[in-house]
Amino acid sequence: MDFEIVSSDIPSLETECLVVAVETEGTLSSAAKAADEASSGYISEILNGGDISGKSAQTLLLHKVPGLAAKRVLLLGLGKAEDRNDRNFRKAVKAAMGVVKSTGVSSVTFALGENLTNDEDQYRQLRHLVEWSGHELYSYDETKSKKADPLKLEQISIHTSEEDSEIAETALLDGTAIVNGTSIARDLGNLPGNFCTPTYLAEQALELDDEFEDLTATIVDEEEMEALGMHCLLSVGNGSEQPSKLIVMEYKGGEEGDKPHVLVGKGITFDTGGISLKPGAGMDEMKFDMCGAASVFGAMTAICEMALPINVVGIVAAAENMPSGHATKPGDIVTTMSGQTVEILNTDAEGRLVLCDALTYAGKFEPASVVDIATLTGACIIALGHHATGVLSNNDDLAAELLQAGDQAADKGWQLPLWDEFQEQLDSNFADIANIGGRPGGTITAACFLSRFTKEYRWAHLDIAGVAWNSGGKEKGATGRCVPLLTQYLLNQAADEE
Ligand code: BES
Ligand code: MN
Ligand code: ZN
Repeated sequence: MDFEIVSSDIPSLETECLVVAVETEGTLSSAAKAADEASSGYISEILNGGDISGKSAQTLLLHKVPGLAAKRVLLLGLGKAEDRNDRNFRKAVKAAMGVVKSTGVSSVTFALGENLTNDEDQYRQLRHLVEWSGHELYSYDETKSKKADPLKLEQISIHTSEEDSEIAETALLDGTAIVNGTSIARDLGNLPGNFCTPTYLAEQALELDDEFEDLTATIVDEEEMEALGMHCLLSVGNGSEQPSKLIVMEYKGGEEGDKPHVLVGKGITFDTGGISLKPGAGMDEMKFDMCGAASVFGAMTAICEMALPINVVGIVAAAENMPSGHATKPGDIVTTMSGQTVEILNTDAEGRLVLCDALTYAGKFEPASVVDIATLTGACIIALGHHATGVLSNNDDLAAELLQAGDQAADKGWQLPLWDEFQEQLDSNFADIANIGGRPGGTITAACFLSRFTKEYRWAHLDIAGVAWNSGGKEKGATGRCVPLLTQYLLNQAADEE
């Protein structure tokens, strides 16, 4: 999608659809007032008629409004001042885009003014407008024989005042990078397990290497992993015909000696549970078990597009978890790259098994921080529902930075404790650690397991099990979370560098 910032006066704006805001009780925003004046009160007359009150996400499409160059005017409700929050703003953008899509216009101009949310940060408001309008244009047709009709919409313009136009341009660049990254994550997530294999993910990394000068991809294959001692990661793919891959993407936007920020994604391209087989109902959704990896791909693409002046390493631990005669069995003990031994009591707790070796591998980059992202536990859905990413860390400052990035990006996380009390649940009679800690605090004990491999650096774990995709119904599909949070975190690191 082509986005642009415009600052010309409202009546002369040439667009197929001019979107202006109505606040509750029919108050017009400044752009709406300008349109109303140019049309000699045509819009206020319609408001007085009661067709739209300005409740959040209400829409009313007007044709042939006199005195305007715009072909149509879409009145969009923004609600009461006290309800002007991210959530309602996002709903309003979604409603507007619904009309824009169904009307089939080729251009739209948002002239919503400065009070989209109560937050006064113009950059943030405009960036969200870019991200969220772009988000609504996503459609998946990769594996359909009948492709989606090409979008009629070619251009989204955002109207701002002259003095805000510089901030608006930055918001546009960052917003498009984030929405592009999010789309990449959604595409990878939605692609089924027979297409999206560890090898396919490795190919995607090589394509990014081709596309971006500053990014180098290296694929560590099973033989090399064996030599590195990554027996725990390898044990997950034992039952699969698909070879496991450790995918490493190094982005060098910073100075030579700058310590990198490392992202590590869980890339289970399908999770049957292995010998600890999952029940059949809804198992198809375990194609989404590589959404952590997908968010790493999305964030890496976004930072390449924004050319951030920092060094970042993206690591993806990719494997398929299948039952077979070669599969790992409950009770099997494997040695990790760190030397610690693990008793695999449940082969369905496989995410931590691939991540632990990837996290040990991450240590060799002498990282400034390491953040892993994983659809790790069903328990996280019980704890936080489908709204917040679970955040656990061995460093409270790092946790705070990630929570703040989530708030800024409207891609929220919530911290869970990582107290020593929980560690004992992982005691094993036969190995250094067990891979499960029982039902109580399942998200926390999973993070405790990972914490045994991250002692050397600042580390945080993001459990995206509840937010990475929508289940069932028309909205079923990958969400692209938490690309916005990760990208914001890295944007903030880049800002600190300056
Ligand atoms: N990928 C799943 C976690 C998951 C389940 C995410 C459902 C989203 C929806 C993970 O590999 C898994 O199976 N975890 C087990 C761990 C348990 C065996 C300790 C779980 O959560 O049940
Ligand atoms: Mn599992
Ligand atoms: Zn899994």
